[in-house]
Amino acid sequence: IRDFQLSASILSADFACLGAEVEAVLASGADRIHFDVMDNHYVPNLTVGPMVCSALRDHLEKHGVEAPIDVHLMVEPVDALIEQFLDAGAASITFHPEASRHVDRSLRLIRDGGAEAGLALNPATRIDCLEHVLDVVDRVLVMSVNPGFGGQSFIPATLGKLRQLRSWLDDHHAQRVQIEVDGGVKPANIRDIADAGAELFVAGSALFGARAAADPHDYDSVVARF
Ligand code: DX5
Ligand code: ZN
Repeated sequence: IRDFQLSASILSADFACLGAEVEAVLASGADRIHFDVMDNHYVPNLTVGPMVCSALRDHLEKHGVEAPIDVHLMVEPVDALIEQFLDAGAASITFHPEASRHVDRSLRLIRDGGAEAGLALNPATRIDCLEHVLDVVDRVLVMSVNPGFGGQSFIPATLGKLRQLRSWLDDHHAQRVQIEVDGGVKPANIRDIADAGAELFVAGSALFGARAAADPHDYDSVVARF
């Protein structure tokens, strides 16, 4: 039996009350927090950094909530921020191979800091960029949209890529590597995405955008749809 997990992307949360939003979505059943970091350089958008990550970490701790924060770095270069996010309490850090001059070094930096290391593949990025670093990769994040914005549509070709990645990992005896999918994940397509081989699903707008007007912090029914 495969273990499926739902990761809530903070990108579509209300940043004016991020702590409460994250607490609510976890209480409703989300398994992890997906922390999107954008630098207006690698992607044309700007979000938040390590200070907000550690504030969120402290907030959850203070309220007795335990959930891993997965940092998705859409920044270039990555190494200095990797160190800062390790200090900020990230459980995992994922970056895009195009954004690091020394991919193997960056992956080891994450592992040596005690976090799980992930590589994010853009829609046009080839799977075989994983080949020589597989030993130091815990997770592959397959982008099903081009990075930079929430609320985009799932790119259908991703399903074929996921199937290809699943069998590529099998061929390389790397079944331990987790497959994450990010972008345009909705209750309506999650079944097909799971069938194609993903285990960890990121959802932003479909979670936070679907909040009930009556009770903006009630995510029970929203999470239940996944
Ligand atoms: C996009 C981000 C995603 C984004 C997903 O660059 O990496 O994590 O928040 O948002 P939705 O689920 O709305 O596509
Ligand atoms: Zn993301």
